[in-house]
Amino acid sequence: MIRPVRPEDGEELAALYLANRDFLAPFEPARPPEFFTADGQRERLQRQLDGETHPFAILDDDSIAGTINLFNIVRESLQGGVIGYWVDGTRNGRGLATGAVGEILAYAFVELELHRIEAATLVDNVSSQRVLEKNDFERIGLARRFLRINDEWRDFFLFQRLADDD
Ligand SMILES: CC(C)(COP(=O)(O)OP(=O)(O)OC[C@H]1O[C@@H](n2cnc3c(N)ncnc32)[C@H](O)[C@@H]1OP(=O)(O)O)[C@@H](O)C(=O)NCCC(=O)NCCS
Repeated sequence: MIRPVRPEDGEELAALYLANRDFLAPFEPARPPEFFTADGQRERLQRQLDGETHPFAILDDDSIAGTINLFNIVRESLQGGVIGYWVDGTRNGRGLATGAVGEILAYAFVELELHRIEAATLVDNVSSQRVLEKNDFERIGLARRFLRINDEWRDFFLFQRLADDD
């Protein structure tokens, strides 16, 4: 259900982000115009691949239906990382995000041998909270004024899942 994103996916991703511009606006930081172009997406993907982010495409048959990323990985005594994800608004409610989170957890815990994965949702983003709960995340707190969306610092619930919890 997920596979690593490649710079060649830039065109398909730009089209998907453009089609979901209004759908994603209430959930995401402001995006510059180049974000919605194939070149902008290729550059972004290359920056992610050169850095510490592990970007994956969420697949619906052969087409990309969204993305899920693992980032902010810290080793040493933390052995943790953070995930973020989204799914095309016309393909919601089919279990794509729930399955993708399950697969990235397996990657994080088995392949990368991480100990803890964190995720954050807007306090009213019930769909995303369900995605996390169905993957055995626990809610660990409220992060006040956590992320700036539409010129407003918004409150988020924080969730975590530990490798040895199952
Ligand atoms: C949140 C999001 C990732 C969910 O993706 P999804 O593929 O629809 O999720 P799933 O199908 O795995 O289902 C999760 C929950 O979504 C809810 N849901 C959302 N849209 C739905 C729809 N159109 N029909 C039915 N259920 C829907 C259901 O409550 C479901 O939980 P349930 O199985 O207990 O009923 C997606 O709506 C999205 O990208 N939203 C905008 C960006 C975002 O919120 N990203 C996450 C940031 S933390």
